[in-house]
Order: sequence, then structure tokens, then C-alpha cells
Amino acid sequence: MIYFDNAATGGFKPSAVTESVFSAVKYLCANPSRSSHKLAYLAGDCVYKTRSKLSSFFNAVSPSHVVFTKNCTEALNTAILGSNVKGEVLTTVFEHNSVLRPLYYLEKKGDITIKIIEPENGRFITASDVIKNFSSRTKMVIVSGASNVTGEVNEIEKIGAFLKDKNAVYLVDGAQLGGHYPIDVQRFNIDYLCLACHKGLYSIMGLGALIFSSKVKPLPLTMGGTGTETFNLNQPDVYPERLESGTLNLPAICSLEEGLLYLEKNADFIREYLTNLTDYLTVKLCEISGVTVYTRKNPVGITAFSIAGIDSNEVSELLSSKYDIAVRGGFHCAPLTHKFLNTQDSGLVRASICPHNTKREVNALISAIKDISAR
Ligand code: ALA
Repeated sequence: MIYFDNAATGGFKPSAVTESVFSAVKYLCANPSRSSHKLAYLAGDCVYKTRSKLSSFFNAVSPSHVVFTKNCTEALNTAILGSNVKGEVLTTVFEHNSVLRPLYYLEKKGDITIKIIEPENGRFITASDVIKNFSSRTKMVIVSGASNVTGEVNEIEKIGAFLKDKNAVYLVDGAQLGGHYPIDVQRFNIDYLCLACHKGLYSIMGLGALIFSSKVKPLPLTMGGTGTETFNLNQPDVYPERLESGTLNLPAICSLEEGLLYLEKNADFIREYLTNLTDYLTVKLCEISGVTVYTRKNPVGITAFSIAGIDSNEVSELLSSKYDIAVRGGFHCAPLTHKFLNTQDSGLVRASICPHNTKREVNALISAIKDISAR
């Protein structure tokens, strides 16, 4: 099958990643930071090394400001619900339900009010969009690095520069952008960066991460064993343990270390490759009659489009059953994006490529779309 659903879960894993998972499951089934035998120490080393590598990759304040979660959703929930924010939260039409649902929960509870920003340029959120909507009431600003529907990259660095001397917490949802674009949390003034490690960071599924600044002190959503301070009946105050109760996903963490090593060597090449291949796909799709494309070239590999008169889920099913091509159709868990793009009725087809995909595979998709749109 040709796999173009990499924005949901990365389909390509470098061989060192898969080997590290096999090796962790076969030789390292031990619990880090718990027992004092050799295997537990080795497991702890692997967690520490990966945490440090992730910390350097995104220039976190220190490895203790990097927390492993089970996915990006859990990282976002920890940042949003664990911030104890009271007042106005500024966010955008491009946010995923893993941002919107915790926010609407807090709004219903009476803790916050939500202000949603639309991009004035119709494509991505600029610093000017944030500046125009920011006020002294704003206590938190939440912006996705890139839309999971269109792949458009928001101006997260310029927004961070504006927020530098403001009394508001800045959260970036890096689910789609992490690994595809150089994010420096200190230079960008990001207080919370939430990551999906199984997408642009090449780990296996079951791993997310939360990187936070020294300005914030996120509260834990889960409490329990940390392997430390056993007689303290309160959740320890020390990070990262404070936010990491329970057994960590060691095979996924080992795989992330290899994913980051792969990225260190290949990030520039990947960015250029994905940008060019996405550009090629969007240009070719625009030439097909009846096809509307909602994407410009972008470094995350996403192309979103619709075919007049055919529901996006039907296109996705046809591509799978008749052409052996995997894409995602429907609404992508981003309701406000679809309302903004006026695609709330039949959704969008999203093809998301990875560095392992070839031009020949992209041509196969283009030819399938020509076929389907001509029916
Ligand atoms: N949030 C993931 C996506 O965009 C699953 O497909």
C-alpha cells in the first residue's frame, strides 16, 4: 500500500528505530527508576539519554523540563488543565480537539473565556493576528505550529517575540511541526511545547512529550508511583517525576532516541524533500478539473483537497480499496478549521507524505484523483 497518512501516524521508521524497539522488548524489559538491578539502571540510562537528547533538540532549559506522556493529547491536556489558568485564552481556528475540548471544559467550569483568532491572510496565523487580539485580559495564547488539516505553518517564532514581555503563558501544539522545522523553545519564548513523537520525530506510537519553561509549574493530571519519595503521600514537587507517574513506555522512548539521531543527520534534507514533493503534489492537483486544493507548499508534507460532488470519506475509501493508497478523509478532529474553510459538509481529503515516499507514489495518487474526479 502507498501510505500517505503520515500526519496521523508516521508510517516510515528508520531501521535503527525498529531495531531499538525489538532490542528493548527482547533485552530491556525492566522498569526505569524503580529497582536497583543492572537492567533497571540500563532502562533508566535509556530514558535519561533520550530525555537529554530531546531537551537539546528543542533547546529546553534542562532535561528536567522535558516530560514523557503517552501522546500529544496528554501533553496538551497537562499544559492546559495543569496551568490553572484564569482569564482569557487566545487560540486559533486551526486547533485540534485536543486543545479545544480541554478549553471548552474550562470555559464551562467558569475558569476561562475563549477568544478564537482567524488568519487575516486566509491561510496561517501571523504575529499581527495575535497582536490585534491580545489584551491585558489574555492569560494564555495557544497556537498550533502547523495546521493538521492544511499543513500551513503559523508564525510561532514572531508570536513568541511579541509575547516575550507579556504576562501570558505561550503554548505551541507541535504535533505536526515537531521534527519538520527547527523549534527553539527558549529563543521562541515558548512556555509549553507539546509533541507527538510518532510523527515527525520517528518514534513508534504511544509516546508524546511536554517541554516547559521555567516560568510555568504544571500540575499533574495523574498521581502515583514515581520511584522516588515513597513515604511522601503527596505527589513529589520535583520535575520530571511530578508529571510522570507510572511505568513509562520504554520501547517507544528507546525508539525516540534513534529517531532523534536520524533527524540530527537528515533534518535539512527531509525539510527540503517534503517541501518540494508537497509543492509538486499541490500544483498537479490544482490542474485537475473539479479538485480544490487548500494547501500551499509546506515543510510538514500535508496536502488537503476536495473533489466536487464527492464526500472526502468516499474518496479516501476509494483510494484505499481501488488504488491501494492510504489517505485520511473527513474532519481531522479540527472542527473550527473546517468551519473556517467552509468544508464542514463533506470534509477534506488529506494526503500527508514522509521522506520515504517517492515521486512515483505521488504520481500514482495524482493519476487516481484524475480517475475519481472524472467519474
Ligand atoms: N491528530 C492526528 C491527525 O491529524 C491523528 O490525523
